[in-house]
Amino acid sequence: MIMTGQKTNSTAPRESAFRLTENRALSAKVNRMRFEGDCGAISAPGQFVSLLMPEKFLRRPFSVCDWGEGWFTVLVERVGDGTAMLHALPCGTELSVLTGLGNGFTPVPESTAPLLVGGGSGLSPLVGLARRLSDTGTKPRVLLGFRDPNDRFGAELFPGLEVTYAEDVFSALREIPHDQVYACGSEAMMRELAKRDPAEGQYAFDVRMGCGFGACMGCSLRTPGGMKRVCKDGPVFRKEDLL
Ligand SMILES: Cc1cc2nc3c(=O)[nH]c(=O)nc-3n(C[C@H](O)[C@H](O)[C@H](O)COP(=O)(O)OP(=O)(O)OC[C@H]3O[C@@H](n4cnc5c(N)ncnc54)[C@H](O)[C@@H]3O)c2cc1C
Ligand code: FES
Repeated sequence: MIMTGQKTNSTAPRESAFRLTENRALSAKVNRMRFEGDCGAISAPGQFVSLLMPEKFLRRPFSVCDWGEGWFTVLVERVGDGTAMLHALPCGTELSVLTGLGNGFTPVPESTAPLLVGGGSGLSPLVGLARRLSDTGTKPRVLLGFRDPNDRFGAELFPGLEVTYAEDVFSALREIPHDQVYACGSEAMMRELAKRDPAEGQYAFDVRMGCGFGACMGCSLRTPGGMKRVCKDGPVFRKEDLL
């Protein structure tokens, strides 16, 4: 069994300069941003990157939405100063980016009915995961939770897959047959999902971070195995490591 805290699917984090090549609104609050640069440290869907803006002291973490040779995308929801600043950046801007952060999702080959569950902009890392699962011949279903239907976006990022939008993810879950859940969202949502859903699962936590590299304990989660840091031990945790 893979234990929480082990580095399972990551390489050493790397800092390098990236050039913004797309900054496009997908909804009133969310932009897709594409960056070009050295992506050699990104090794699994569910990992995150940390962007440094010139006027900000702390980097801002974002899940890798998808990536390939020399590019990655992130979905940025505008919630404060930093994210507003990112939305306003023109293409061509260079930023320092830390890549290859955290443990990502580990696809389970035996699963025949995987379900991807995203809460709001938490759908982001599921895009790259969906592409990789589809490439191995497994078509996941996708459930996207938005409390306000006016905030909905993202179905177009899962071409060829059946996507369901829901205001209440937990009711919708019961209607979709599945044997494995890959999810991303807030701590409250992930904990509730782990408790309520009988299927095996891997959960990516979107929490508030401080340092982002394991030094401040500002991102700690309580688990039966003690306090775990989302930035170093996660952000993806297995259900059995949470309950
Ligand atoms: C591993 C990880 C992956 C993430 N992936 C994404 C992603 O793919 N897309 C995305 O849009 N955001 C993601 N986030 C959240 C993102 O990092 C924050 O929203 C961003 O740093 C806020 O910066 P800001 O300067 O705009 O907001 P601030 O001015 O710092 O804060 C504005 C408001 O947002 C709240 N806030 C800030 N960070 C978080 C957070 N992590 N969770 C909940 N509330 C927060 C603050 O409490 C405050 O109310 C991720 C966070 C982590 C830790
Ligand atoms: S953010 Fe500092 S330990 Fe995770």
